[in-house]
Amino acid sequence: MNLITLLQDRLRLALTGLVDDPSPYAAMLKAANDPKHGDYQANCAMSLAKALGKKPPEVAKEIVARLPQDDLFEKVEIAGPGFINLRFRTEWLAAQMQAIALGDRLGITPAVKPKTYVIDFSGPNVAKPLHVGHLRSTIIGDSLCRLLRFLGHKVIGDNHLGDWGLQFGMLLHGYKHHRDDAALQGDPVRELARVYVMLRKKIKPAEDVEDEPANAKNYPPDELAESQAVLAACRQETSKLHAGDPENLKLWKQFMPWAMAEIEAIYKRLDVKFDETLGESHYHSMLADVVRDLRAKGIAQESRGAIAILFGENQPAAIIQSSHGAYTYTTTDLATIRYRVERWNPDEILYVVDFRQALHFQHVYDAARRWGYDQPKYHHVSFGSVLDPKSRKPFKTSEGGAATLEELLNEAVQHAAKMYVQICEERRQRGDEIPELSPGELKQVHEAVGIGAVKYADLCQNRESDYVFSLEKMTSLEGNTATYMQNAYVRNRGIFRKGDENSELYRTHPPPVLLGQPKERALALQLLRFEDALQSAVVDYRPNNVTAYLWDLAKSYSGFYEECPVLKAETPALRQSRLLLCDLTARTIQKGLELLGIRTIERM
Ligand code: ARG
Repeated sequence: MNLITLLQDRLRLALTGLVDDPSPYAAMLKAANDPKHGDYQANCAMSLAKALGKKPPEVAKEIVARLPQDDLFEKVEIAGPGFINLRFRTEWLAAQMQAIALGDRLGITPAVKPKTYVIDFSGPNVAKPLHVGHLRSTIIGDSLCRLLRFLGHKVIGDNHLGDWGLQFGMLLHGYKHHRDDAALQGDPVRELARVYVMLRKKIKPAEDVEDEPANAKNYPPDELAESQAVLAACRQETSKLHAGDPENLKLWKQFMPWAMAEIEAIYKRLDVKFDETLGESHYHSMLADVVRDLRAKGIAQESRGAIAILFGENQPAAIIQSSHGAYTYTTTDLATIRYRVERWNPDEILYVVDFRQALHFQHVYDAARRWGYDQPKYHHVSFGSVLDPKSRKPFKTSEGGAATLEELLNEAVQHAAKMYVQICEERRQRGDEIPELSPGELKQVHEAVGIGAVKYADLCQNRESDYVFSLEKMTSLEGNTATYMQNAYVRNRGIFRKGDENSELYRTHPPPVLLGQPKERALALQLLRFEDALQSAVVDYRPNNVTAYLWDLAKSYSGFYEECPVLKAETPALRQSRLLLCDLTARTIQKGLELLGIRTIERM
């Protein structure tokens, strides 16, 4: 049930005839701040009065008189300068509760006109272990896939792995010159990571000076010269790989599964799946043709020995083939767009990538549109950094000793284990029953709580903001956290166990719902707002609209729970009605968390 759409439709009907295009006025609608005044407030009378040269209260009256008379509203009131307060009929809300209890979509209708989305997310450079920098893209992208899919769209989640770039040249060079065979036998992934980190450090001065020649003074000449030689050697290995050198290709094929095994283990732990994993290597054979075509169409041209796409006066150009003949990140992204359009003809392509790549994507979209791929909408779903709690700066990654994602997740799960002991203690004090869990079940609880906490803490941010990675905050039982939600869910399920009630029956044969108490009514209204929350989360790709909704729901639920006895309700009918509200709340929390990629636990 999309309340906003429902109300806007009513308002649009009322406005038809008053104004040529009623839609923008119908859209001036918001949830009421104070339930005393109503459930929603329509604010169009003021703007409309201006347009019509009338007084706002007059216009408001006219709109109210034109609102269809049916069973939707209990009260429509004009307040202040011309606000229209709308209050749903309580019986209508009650009937909706009973209706959405049936079926497993919680009243959410799939899109009438489904769109096709390609979501480009995670995309780690696979030569090194995943680090915390990969967390956000993976979590946000996965949640967007889940949300859009649940809303009825076709979604292709594509992991655009960095599996072909300079980092492999570095591994090839490192393998040939610096490998430790014993270490490689024991743990090839670690050994490759060691070699990678070592070379990263070595080539840093050379890269710095390439970016900004004046930086040369910061380095002793010998060190710089050596650095430049190593960088050149790594590039040479990359070029040989790209040119099809059999030895390098063979090594690449050998390295890839090592690198992937580690990455896949993390995805599994995070519950993240992709529909496609088409890394940069997939596009290599298409790049020459991409460059040829872009040149033929006059989009790319020669510029200082390289082939580049220009973007106007003060903009840097995007190189698609270097003077040495090498293709670039941009070339691959353009090939990828062509491939995606030809294969899926998507309505939208989302790139869930770090904010630092904003300019790159702007160039890629601009070039793609000029090239003729102007049909899909392109969005850079950008996000900020995760900050180290000690330094309050982005987690250091490339300089070794840095937190790998695996270490970070382990830490979160250990922390969750400690929290769980605390949760049990609190619940015991309140008189709740604590189940005996087997070691296997216990481990699952720790994983679900620890990983859930990390995900929720990330998703509940405005994605453009940086945030501090604080395990204490993430697992707090007081605040808006996954731990809080998971606990609310379990306690809710406990009511059914305690009352010896089968929740299934409330889904197949929902009883009539009674909303006599204000807190019951408020909970029902909040439950009905679920679809609005999901829709608002996909307008601009912001899963924090879902977490904000869940937090409001949890608050409505605890208000209800404090004031309305459930198992000890005054009458059997009231008990049944309240149990249905409990079950709907639990299911909505569960579904909401699931759409964020977070597990709920039935017993903990
Ligand atoms: N591998 C890239 C990086 O780590 C991210 C890839 C993003 N996707 C894309 N189509 N460029 O920076």
